[in-house]
Amino acid sequence: MPAHGSEGGRGNRAGALASAIAALLAATTAVAAASDRIALGRSIAQDLTARLKARLMAGLEGGGPESAIAICKIEAPALAAAASAQHGARVGRTSLRVRNPANRPDAWERGVLEDFERRRARGEAVEALEAHASLAEDGRRVSRYMKAIPTGELCLACHGETLAPAVTAKLDALYPEDRARGFRAGDIRGAVTITWPE
Ligand code: HEC
Repeated sequence: MPAHGSEGGRGNRAGALASAIAALLAATTAVAAASDRIALGRSIAQDLTARLKARLMAGLEGGGPESAIAICKIEAPALAAAASAQHGARVGRTSLRVRNPANRPDAWERGVLEDFERRRARGEAVEALEAHASLAEDGRRVSRYMKAIPTGELCLACHGETLAPAVTAKLDALYPEDRARGFRAGDIRGAVTITWPE
């Protein structure tokens, strides 16, 4: 009996070790998956922001803010849709103060945007603000990523405190619920938001 008992003990120890290793591997895989998502999210966000900025600058040079409004209205959702198709994800932009109501944040996004504001108030650089989570959505697990979009000088022609009368008139006509005015350079204008199925 003692021999049997000690064998059983060894068996239990081996079993415990195996499940500890399995748990460790699962945790490591989860961490690796999360860091892959963060790296990918970062690059999708940077790419989208850079493309938009380039289009915006070309539009502003070509016809001024009044005509560049069309670029933001048509090309921003088109570029986000292209990024979504390319990465099998849902890619968009959101903000605590949206211009287009279609960009309103959901509960998780709102919480992250509020956290970004707190982190900025504590002195964190807006460029570095990002968040990642694995969540249940409609009974499926999804991976989510957000990256803050800083307000630059370039943005103020359409999101700043004083807008040209022609810009105000066009925005009033296109976006009667516009809340995306009154920003200052350095403020958080919003965030790129990405959701993948897991
Ligand atoms: C020429 C005017 C114009 C300029 C300049 C401009 N935007 Fe916008 N922005 C818009 C319009 C129009 C929309 C609404 C787009 C839509 O309908 O989806 C918008 C929407 C957004 C949104 C999506 C959230 C929302 O409010 O609906 C973000 C984020 C944003 N802009 C950031 C920026 C940043 C950052 C800059 C500077 C790099 C910038 N914008 C410069 C006109 C402009």
